[in-house]
Amino acid sequence: MRSLTGLSMSIQNLCLSLFSNSKKGESVNLYEIKGVYKSYNSKEKPPVYAAFNINLTIKKGEVLGLVGESGCGKSTLAKMLLKLEQPTRGRIIFKQQDITDYSFKQMRKIRSSMQMIFQGTANAFNPYFTVEQIISEPLNNYSREAKELKKKKVVEIMERVGLNKTYLTRYGHEMSGGQRQRVGIARALILNPEFVVCDEAVSSIDYALKNQILSLLTDLKRQFGFTYLFISHDLSAVNKICDRVVVMYLGNIVEIIPHINEQVQHPYTKALLAATLIPNPHQREKNRVLFREGEGLKLPERGCIFQNRCLYAQSICLTDQPALMSKNDEYYVACHLCHNH
Ligand SMILES: Nc1ncnc2c1ncn2[C@@H]1O[C@H](COP(=O)(O)OP(=O)(O)O)[C@@H](O)[C@H]1O
Ligand SMILES: [Mg+2]
Repeated sequence: MRSLTGLSMSIQNLCLSLFSNSKKGESVNLYEIKGVYKSYNSKEKPPVYAAFNINLTIKKGEVLGLVGESGCGKSTLAKMLLKLEQPTRGRIIFKQQDITDYSFKQMRKIRSSMQMIFQGTANAFNPYFTVEQIISEPLNNYSREAKELKKKKVVEIMERVGLNKTYLTRYGHEMSGGQRQRVGIARALILNPEFVVCDEAVSSIDYALKNQILSLLTDLKRQFGFTYLFISHDLSAVNKICDRVVVMYLGNIVEIIPHINEQVQHPYTKALLAATLIPNPHQREKNRVLFREGEGLKLPERGCIFQNRCLYAQSICLTDQPALMSKNDEYYVACHLCHNH
């Protein structure tokens, strides 16, 4: 009897250790987004969703790209991850904690590990603040360290982003766009976050500067092991920096792929690619026909969300919404026609 109990105990221990191992395995996911919906005006009938049944994991240490036309819900998704917007439905798991219903106070403990660099960051600085004040502001909010220690940290992070300490006393308007962008990045990174959202952070800056900022972000990731969500409509920037790319259309994920290249299959992603990457303008015009411009931005009542703009739509596309199905671990697509290939 005793030995049986012993046996059952050791089986139990084995199960426990297997379970904890699988838990360890799971911890490579920084985020798990489960069935997340967001509608801003729930009174509207039918509601318009900025995010519709989003299921996605963000792996620790990856640079995940997020692309799609303006208004498709990219910023909304990012804001829900940072708890700046509340999902209408669904769960958001951060490092195995379900943070969906966390209060402001509960979020305080983890908010410093999530930061956002956005397009307007550099222009939104307080004009009366020096660079030192701008970068140290998050430190003042989150830590009670001595002034000297804070200054040391500010100088350290400035060096990391390629600004020497002579900039400490400058004001935003005394710097170039690129330098301001670096200040914005330093400010986002000063609290040593684990997750950084770059929301159109390299849009509207010139080519050379964009490349500098992209390599800076990549270097910083290598040094600190950040996980990035990189939102951009610039597909070449996305291809340069991202490990995986999520394509959104009208609040839905339509494709997840390692890169936006000839391998893409969803007609929407193909059209996005054709509209931006093809160097020959004549060819680009021809490919643009893929989009039936102007017809699509209203959500169809049923069937595939892209049916109005898709030149390949067949009868099933008008009636059934295609699920986001996996072709392999790295690749998912939501399209009836691609599923059949
Ligand atoms: N605060 C808000 N109130 C109402 N509607 C919003 C709000 N923020 C975004 N939206 C709507 O949600 C949709 C997605 O917006 P957004 O996430 O900003 O898209 P993207 O970042 O891809 O351009 C758009 O239709 C937009 O008008
Ligand atoms: Mg946006």
